[in-house]
Amino acid sequence: MGCNRALVLCTPEQYGLAQRVSELLGDKSVGIFDRAVMHVPLETAQQARALAQDLGADCAVAVGGGSTTGLGKAIALESGLPILAIPTTYAGSEMTPIYGITDNGLKKTGRDARVLPRTVIYDPELSYSLPVDLSVTSAINAIAHAAEGLYAVDGNPIIDLMAAEGIAALGRAIPRLKQQTHVPEARHDALYGAWLCGSVLGHVGMALHHKLCHTLGGSFNLPHAQTHTVVLPHALAYNASAAPLAMQRIQSALGVHSTVSAARAVYDLAHGNGAPTSLRELGLQEQDLHKALEIALQNQYPNPRPLMREPLLALLQDAFEGRRPH
Ligand SMILES: NC(=O)c1ccc[n+]([C@@H]2O[C@H](COP(=O)([O-])OP(=O)(O)OC[C@H]3O[C@@H](n4cnc5c(N)ncnc54)[C@H](O)[C@@H]3O)[C@@H](O)[C@H]2O)c1
Repeated sequence: MGCNRALVLCTPEQYGLAQRVSELLGDKSVGIFDRAVMHVPLETAQQARALAQDLGADCAVAVGGGSTTGLGKAIALESGLPILAIPTTYAGSEMTPIYGITDNGLKKTGRDARVLPRTVIYDPELSYSLPVDLSVTSAINAIAHAAEGLYAVDGNPIIDLMAAEGIAALGRAIPRLKQQTHVPEARHDALYGAWLCGSVLGHVGMALHHKLCHTLGGSFNLPHAQTHTVVLPHALAYNASAAPLAMQRIQSALGVHSTVSAARAVYDLAHGNGAPTSLRELGLQEQDLHKALEIALQNQYPNPRPLMREPLLALLQDAFEGRRPH
């Protein structure tokens, strides 16, 4: 990358890993910022930007999940500093030019080529320590990118192949990630799937599911991967009649019988592997459903099925209760 002054980024929980990265960088590391948190609050972004400037950093090394990569992106957005990303979850942010910053309870996202990491290092061993519950929900978060990629308004046949391959790899990995005995091949499959699904997210536009999850995450501070896991079956059920080919591809990638809908297949994958299935479990209050609906309806965006108030409220209510989709 031609850089000599790296600022290493991490969450407080992953400080040990960041320290190891910093040691390996030797005198090319100028410091560690260890305050990355979910959804990139504006204040955190400002602190990290100021530190990068004070230390004269010429690149950021983001080691961690989507929150850490997201913090790197917030720095790059303003300063143009190149990012080297070392992902340790399956969120896929490292493959996208999408950034998100949360200010005053509203998460704003955008696309900018400057925030796309220049280099990504995928090492399955770094994901061995990801707790089982987060491994499962993070993998389903990745499936969500591919699932919406399959009905993206700007999709294409190559993206469809990558999406189907990504869903299949993650679908194979999830039950093995949950096993008591550690299965390195499952971690390998999951990271391979995460790369494919993250690439899909980076190339085509997302729809209803991602919009709902941004709203729920940014405005109600719900955990990212778990929220994706709960909402995805219901977003797929909402869009099923308008995107039948995408649903067939999801069914066959997950290897389910054609009588099991894509929505139910994803629900069963989550439920069968111990993941949360309701927004209630994640701490949302029932009265917040209406507010979430209003925010989600504020901007129009492409979606296979038109956005309609009553059916969307029903979707949110189903997700709140954790019902198996119809
Ligand atoms: N811009 C994009 O393209 C994009 C894509 C996906 C996600 N995101 C964003 O990323 C954030 C969520 O990322 P996430 O789901 O990866 O969670 P995260 O980065 O918040 O990580 C969750 C927790 O797991 C810990 N962790 C991560 N990897 C670990 C490992 N291998 N071992 C032990 N602990 C580990 C982290 O330190 C943190 O405490 C959200 O803010 C979301 O909006 C952005």
